[in-house]
Amino acid sequence: MAKTKTTFFCQNCGTQSAKWQGQCSSCKQWNTIAEEVIQKAEKASWDISQVNTSKAIKAAKPQKVSDISTSAQARINTQNKELNRVLGGGLVPGSLTLLGGEPGIGKSTLMLQIALELPYKTLYVSGEESAQQIKMRAQRIHPQSEHCYILTETKTQQIFRNIAQMQPDIVVIDSIQTLHTDHIESSPGSISQIRETTTELIKFAKETATPVILIGHITKDGNIAGPKILEHMVDTVLQFEGDRNHIYRILRANKNRYGSTSEIGIYEMQGNGLREVSNPSEILLSKNEEELSGTAIASTLEGMRPLLIEIQALVSTAVYGTPQRSATGYNAKRLNMILAVLEKRAGFKLGTKDVFLNITGGISVDDPAIDLAVVAAVLSSNVDITIDKTMCFAAEIGLAGEVRPVNRVEQRILEAEKLGFESIVISKYCKLPKQTYGIQIIKLGKVHDVVKHLFA
Ligand code: TYD
Ligand code: MG
Repeated sequence: MAKTKTTFFCQNCGTQSAKWQGQCSSCKQWNTIAEEVIQKAEKASWDISQVNTSKAIKAAKPQKVSDISTSAQARINTQNKELNRVLGGGLVPGSLTLLGGEPGIGKSTLMLQIALELPYKTLYVSGEESAQQIKMRAQRIHPQSEHCYILTETKTQQIFRNIAQMQPDIVVIDSIQTLHTDHIESSPGSISQIRETTTELIKFAKETATPVILIGHITKDGNIAGPKILEHMVDTVLQFEGDRNHIYRILRANKNRYGSTSEIGIYEMQGNGLREVSNPSEILLSKNEEELSGTAIASTLEGMRPLLIEIQALVSTAVYGTPQRSATGYNAKRLNMILAVLEKRAGFKLGTKDVFLNITGGISVDDPAIDLAVVAAVLSSNVDITIDKTMCFAAEIGLAGEVRPVNRVEQRILEAEKLGFESIVISKYCKLPKQTYGIQIIKLGKVHDVVKHLFA
């Protein structure tokens, strides 16, 4: 019998080393090196030549950029506008797409839905659920589909054998952490298994020009579980995020070899699957008729998309010695900075107050352009005076208490105008190309002016 061969892998970055070490020599993390069994089988038990290779990319030779035809890269329309937008127009033949996200966020639901709606022969390989469970889910999402095939299998050799037989146009793998190859003996989900099975899938995708979508688990700090190298190997890394307790989900591209990473897709989780949200602002603004203090609307950009979001603040007298500061969907350090600016530059004594901040809809925003709306919401709650519901804000706050201009301000103004807002507060230093808008533009230069304008 052949001697069992083992090697050591860093569970954090995937670096391979010949012996155990306390600290990884590559990523400098401690106690991340683990031993894994690797043993090469003599020969692969599947044969890629059985797979239809008529669409395959031929052996490469140098050619002029101008001579390369783009029609060979025609994208596959996924029938899902939000996904198409994030991918940069659709799935590229022969590409590997990795979809990551927290457990229960809806990765399997999204991919099954895409598989059911596609007019192409799609193979959905699941290592996590039984065929009956998938069928139950499929019935809720999309009762009829003639093109979607389900395979519950985790061994790559078996998967390739099935692929060779049915010749699908698109393959979905749920999930990469459950796959297992005969070539290596370590358990599914280990670094060497993930690396090897992904390599096999890349080989398959490139040789047959079939797009493959992988679902990946993430670790508790939000990275895709497995070696970092996995993200380097695939063409596109998508992240599915959102608060599990809220119904909205955001799909974004962290890496995209075939398009921009600044586009996002927004979905709403419903009883019958994920609904595409083409006008996100309308759902993120509450339909509350009565005016409430502590609420302000910000015109923000998520990727390239303008979005109007509602910010709520609650300022109350602290009961305990140390006032509480809590922010949901907004950077807590930035909230502290803004409170300090208000204290120093506008004379509000917030040091003895509890301040709670929340962005409605469960989304989280790191666009600095919502600073001014945060200021407005905090002040509004503090003095208990409502802010006009037809007004919105788009500016950053500087440490000197200045209202700073933000990028793409025109796009933000136009979105506010489109949604029927009557006025928007921006920085007076903004340069606007066009001077006539159907919305009143209020230009302010200092936090102090904001206070005067809102509550005078
Ligand atoms: P799932 O796709 O299983 O998550 P993941 O694969 O990312 O772990 O999503 C599970 C959640 O989605 C579950 O909590 C129920 C919810 N859901 C709906 O609300 N509506 C639906 O139609 C479906 C299929 C799921
Ligand atoms: Mg799942």
